[in-house]
Amino acid sequence: MKPVNKLIIANWKMNPQKKTEAEAIFKDISTFVKNIKNTEIIICPPFPYFFIKDKIKGKKLKLGSQDVFYEKEGSHTGEVSASMLKDFGVEYVLVGHSERRSLGDTNDQVNKKILAVIKSKMCPIFCIGESEKDANGFYLSFIKQQITEGLLAVTKSQAKNIIIAYEPIWAIGSNATRVATPAEFTEIRIFIKKILSDLYDIKTASGVRILYGGSVNPLNAESFIKEGGADGLLVGRDSLTPKKFIQIINLAR
Ligand code: 13P
Repeated sequence: MKPVNKLIIANWKMNPQKKTEAEAIFKDISTFVKNIKNTEIIICPPFPYFFIKDKIKGKKLKLGSQDVFYEKEGSHTGEVSASMLKDFGVEYVLVGHSERRSLGDTNDQVNKKILAVIKSKMCPIFCIGESEKDANGFYLSFIKQQITEGLLAVTKSQAKNIIIAYEPIWAIGSNATRVATPAEFTEIRIFIKKILSDLYDIKTASGVRILYGGSVNPLNAESFIKEGGADGLLVGRDSLTPKKFIQIINLAR
């Protein structure tokens, strides 16, 4: 079987503050990426920096969006539709990031967004993750609910192209209480696969790629892939420092 490429995703969030800085970060990453193998790099910049798409050459680097709105068109001030993203050349869309959920995105809205992304022939990166890992394991039912409600009406053939990113909220950002361990990721990865195989079947579940996100850095990147079995990484802060992001890419492949 042909090995599947590892996915390394840069989520720039609401950074950097200047167009020139965005250009500089992008330039360093794109120069490096030209020669890599077995890895796909996706950059998710804020919308005003989507112009970098014009500078993307080759197949190794792709443009992703940090969010999308689920309605097709019309009076929705401030929103961006899936067809606009598709038309711009976006291939991947983050959906259900915890920072969007904390601003109000519900499982139902996340589900509508996933369906809109699929309909526009892009790939959703479906983000899930609990705010607290409680000793009684309630977080597992929370994750199960996020997945089942998020994938409502998603068919088997659509599900196999979805990417799931497990990002425990407690491990994200500079306020993170700690980083997850590769063993914790393995556990949750198996749990996610079980939910998917119950919802669909084992074959579909085994084809879904599962990524880790939350304080990924050059010191832990390799362990999530090697020991944790992650199909890729979703990187926040360290994707804004080209040197660190390039190190992460190097370690992951
Ligand atoms: P950090 O890597 O900054 O913890 O962010 C993780 C994240 O939320 C990526 O989507």
